[in-house]
Amino acid sequence: MRTLILGCKGQLGKDLVAVFGEEDEVVGFDLPEIDVSSVDDVSRVMDDTRPEFIVNSAAYTNVEDAEDEEDSAFLANEQGARIVAERAADADVPVVYISTDFVFDGTKTTPYEPEDDVNPLSVYGRSKLAGEVAVRAAAKKHFIVRTAWLYGPGGNNFPEKIIAAAQKNPTLQVVHDEVGSPTHTWDLALATRALSRTEAYGTYHAVNAGSCARDEFARALLECAGIDTPVNPCSLDEFPSKARRPVYSVLSARTLEDATGHRIRDWREALVHYTERRS
Ligand SMILES: NC(=O)c1ccc[n+]([C@@H]2O[C@H](COP(=O)([O-])OP(=O)(O)OC[C@H]3O[C@@H](n4cnc5c(N)ncnc54)[C@H](OP(=O)(O)O)[C@@H]3O)[C@@H](O)[C@H]2O)c1
Repeated sequence: MRTLILGCKGQLGKDLVAVFGEEDEVVGFDLPEIDVSSVDDVSRVMDDTRPEFIVNSAAYTNVEDAEDEEDSAFLANEQGARIVAERAADADVPVVYISTDFVFDGTKTTPYEPEDDVNPLSVYGRSKLAGEVAVRAAAKKHFIVRTAWLYGPGGNNFPEKIIAAAQKNPTLQVVHDEVGSPTHTWDLALATRALSRTEAYGTYHAVNAGSCARDEFARALLECAGIDTPVNPCSLDEFPSKARRPVYSVLSARTLEDATGHRIRDWREALVHYTERRS
């Protein structure tokens, strides 16, 4: 199968190229060669590559900046999603749109299922939800795959920020009242590939199993990385940010696992793999 990965230079994109590349012929594009919000760019890439499957991982992902750059966030995350899905539908090719836990408001206390009510709190969350709506309308053969707390080699992600801070400071303050599903890009790429082998189109969650608070994640990470900087818990109020975030955004991957037969490993195991890959 020839698979087209859009956003191939991002942290997830790189692992999608590696994981799909184990079994498929892969072609990858990113800015500046292709802007997904340009009909001409997307049409040209579709004509040139004639893919049989598409994963759209290209996105505006800066949650804080999105509060001041709403147009840019919607351009990539809504318009880009729609254009890619429309071209995919024209070619009768299945398309994956990667989405986010930020479509939820965090008021639940048990893991979110794909059919739970959405209510994004931030511009980024609204732009990704608009992308989901656009993809559902444009392409019958779609997979919407929501993930959370994503980290992968080379990314500007939470683990890398924690490791950098731990190497500079005698102690760290990390929030204990934000709970989620840390997810290694490698595991998300494997789950996405498993879905691509089915025709069970629809909306899914793909995250590593289990959940934790941010401070627990930081402690586990530093232990894996062999760094002994103590992590002290603090509260979200102590870190003012422009964007509002869900305080609880644990996702359940149950329906994806049922549809594919693919099990996504525990977040601690995935974290060990990540620290091995970055060393
Ligand atoms: N990071 C997380 O914690 C997280 C959590 C939940 C869901 N997600 C979703 O997971 C997906 C992958 O995220 P990621 O962390 O791998 O993001 P990333 O590292 O920022 O990668 C996104 C890639 O898309 C490119 N891009 C941005 N706008 C584009 C456009 N208009 N046309 C073509 N390419 C464009 C970016 O290029 P530039 O770098 O040059 O802008 C970048 O290479 C995204 O859909 C994101 O919304 C991420």
